[in-house]
Amino acid sequence: MANDTNLEINLHPTQDELSRQAFIVKFKQKVNLDLQKDIRTYVAKNIAPQLESDLGEPLDDLNRDHRKALKQRMADEHLFQTWESLTWIGQDMMWNVVDETLDHDLPRIDAAAAKVLKRKDKLGSLTLDPNLDLPPNIAKVEIHRQPGGFCLERDGVDYDLLSGARMTGGGMLYGAGKGRTAKPGYSAAHFLISEAEKQFGKLKPKRILDIGCGTGFNTATFARMFPDAEVYGIDVAAGLLRWGHARCESEGVPIHFNQMSTAKMDFEDESFDLVASTIWGHETTPQILQDSIAEIWRVLAPGGISFHMDVTNQPGYQGLVDQVLNDWQIRHNGEPFWMGWADADLPALMTAAGYPEDCQFTGYRKRTQGAGDWFVHGAQKPA
Ligand SMILES: C[S@@+](CC[C@H](N)C(=O)[O-])C[C@H]1O[C@@H](n2cnc3c(N)ncnc32)[C@H](O)[C@@H]1O
Repeated sequence: MANDTNLEINLHPTQDELSRQAFIVKFKQKVNLDLQKDIRTYVAKNIAPQLESDLGEPLDDLNRDHRKALKQRMADEHLFQTWESLTWIGQDMMWNVVDETLDHDLPRIDAAAAKVLKRKDKLGSLTLDPNLDLPPNIAKVEIHRQPGGFCLERDGVDYDLLSGARMTGGGMLYGAGKGRTAKPGYSAAHFLISEAEKQFGKLKPKRILDIGCGTGFNTATFARMFPDAEVYGIDVAAGLLRWGHARCESEGVPIHFNQMSTAKMDFEDESFDLVASTIWGHETTPQILQDSIAEIWRVLAPGGISFHMDVTNQPGYQGLVDQVLNDWQIRHNGEPFWMGWADADLPALMTAAGYPEDCQFTGYRKRTQGAGDWFVHGAQKPA
């Protein structure tokens, strides 16, 4: 697993924990890849023909009534029930192994962070806003079933890194369990920049904003790729930003982390040449997404580029069986906003926020690491 123990602000699992991690990833891959494939085959052979005959029409991926009808039929199937149980168990095992490491490693990480943060010559900054009205969709939900959620703050802990540590440990296993292993050192931000440059030519941003930056993993890639740029990362979750700040300072990457919502950003109009995000939009609500799309346009400088990558669970892209599996993940696996994202009409949201139609883009881009695509959306503001 990608447990780089050369980095002091990172999880350092024991050999036993590494071997449990490897088992959990294999387990999750069996469930997420092989079993899901078996379910698709099973439905096509054993459920769809009868359902189509009962409905009197062919199944249509865009028809919500068809999704509902298929969901009802699948609910009683042993194969689907097995998948539900194993998906749940796999997620439990994942968080257990992360916490097993943190039980012995968090004190070391806390001490390493404290040492880094005492330095007078810090490269970036961390600005938290204790008065921020935390959006309940993040603050009150255990996204991905992460214990305590992203906004976890333990009583009596001054510089609480636990949510950032958990997101870092769980994120790696979660992605790998879906077959998304990237070569070491490659992050989604590399893909984003290479796609943006294919579309717009060489980028030379002076100010970059990464929205919904989480622990700043991708923000750090932006800063490394554009060492002359001033780079900002925003998120609502303080613990994730603390982790990002400590880790980036420890690695010598200058980033300004700010706790704020993408729906109301405390930045001047037209102040960023590049506004980017990686897997942020699918964790918003429809209202927050609409407000954030407007805010992105407001802070984007003339000639600037807004470029965002996210999950591909749109009906039409995704068949009915996967929509039913998604629906289960929404209800039971800490992905409550997936369906809102799947149904989001990005062109309509951008147009409503004043983006000229000929400046916008949306579409699917083939991943260069791992199977599948990314959904991308964004715009270039006229110069
Ligand atoms: C799946 S994580 C992705 C984090 C990071 N971009 C990455 O690629 O690792 C989504 C992030 O969006 C943040 N987020 C969700 N809604 C937000 C909002 N309204 N304002 C700021 N951040 C938000 C969450 O707290 C979370 O850290």
